[in-house]
Amino acid sequence: DTLSEQVHPDLNAKCAFLTGGATGIGHSIARGLAAQGVTVAIADINEEAAKSAAAALGDGHVGLGVDVRDSASVTRAFARAVEMLGAVDICIANAGVSSMRPAVDLTVEDWDFNMNVNARGVFLTNQAAARHFRKTGTGVIVNTASLAGKVGAPFLGHYSASKFAVIGWTQALARELAPLGIRVNAVCPGFVKTGMQDREVEWEGALRGISGTEVVQDYIDQTPLGRLETPEDVANVAIFLCSEAARFMTGQAINVTGGVYM
Ligand code: NAI
Repeated sequence: DTLSEQVHPDLNAKCAFLTGGATGIGHSIARGLAAQGVTVAIADINEEAAKSAAAALGDGHVGLGVDVRDSASVTRAFARAVEMLGAVDICIANAGVSSMRPAVDLTVEDWDFNMNVNARGVFLTNQAAARHFRKTGTGVIVNTASLAGKVGAPFLGHYSASKFAVIGWTQALARELAPLGIRVNAVCPGFVKTGMQDREVEWEGALRGISGTEVVQDYIDQTPLGRLETPEDVANVAIFLCSEAARFMTGQAINVTGGVYM
C-alpha cells in the first residue's frame, strides 16, 4: 500500500525516535516520516532488523537496539539517538506485543509480558522524550495504542488492559506537558495486516475452530469501509499528529479502524 502524498513542510529536517520500527506499523511510520524529510532513529529489540530498516530509508537514518521494558536500555538508546541525529523532536512509542488466550488460562507471564512491553514500554519511552523535550523546549509524542484500548475483546484481556493503560497515560501526560507546548496523542488501529495480525489470526482461528481466512473475512465483513487495514492507513494519521496540522490536538486517541469503532 502507498503512503499519502500529503506534505507537511514543518516536519522537514526534524528528527524522530521511533520504537518497534523494524517491521509492521512502526516501519511504515518510519518510511512516512522519512518521506517528509524527517531523520529517523529506529529502535527495536531486533537490532539487526532495525539497522537494515534504517539503511533502507537512506542516508542519515540510524537503527538501534532497545528493549522498551528496560529503563536503562531506553535511556541509553534515546541518548544515542540524540547523539547520532543531533536532536530528537518527535517520539513515536510504537513497540508492542500481543497474544490471545482465554482469561481462565492466562498466566502471570502472559499478563506481565504484555503489560511490560505495551504499557511500561510506552511510559519509559515517553519519559526519556519528555526529559529531553523539557530541556529543548519543543517536541511531539505519538503512541500506538489500539482499538483494544477502547473496547475489551475476548481472549485479549491482558493486551486490552495494557492498551487502556496507554490511553490513560497519554491523557495524563498530555495535560502535564501542555504548558510546555508539547503535544501527546495516540493512534488506535483496528486489525492491521502485519506479523502481529498473522499470529493473531492463527490463534483466533484455533480458539474459534475456524480457518485463518475466515477470521480475516469476518473482520472485513464488520468493517464499514470494507477492506483490511494497512500499516500505511495508520502511518498517515500518526504523521498528521506529528505535524503542525494537528497543532491544537493533544490527549487524543484517534481511531483508525475503517469505521469498526465510532
Ligand atoms: P509487529 O510485530 O509487526 O511489530 C512490532 C515491533 O515491535 C517489532 O519490530 C518488534 O521487534 C518490536 N518489539 C517487540 N518487543 C519489543 C521490545 N521489548 N522492545 C523494543 N521493540 C520491541 O506488530 P505491529 O502490528 O506493527 O504492531 C505495532 C504496534 O501496533 C503495537 O504496539 C501493536 O500493539 C499495535 N497494534 C497493532 C494492531 C494490528 O492489528 N497489527 C492493531 C492495533 C494496535
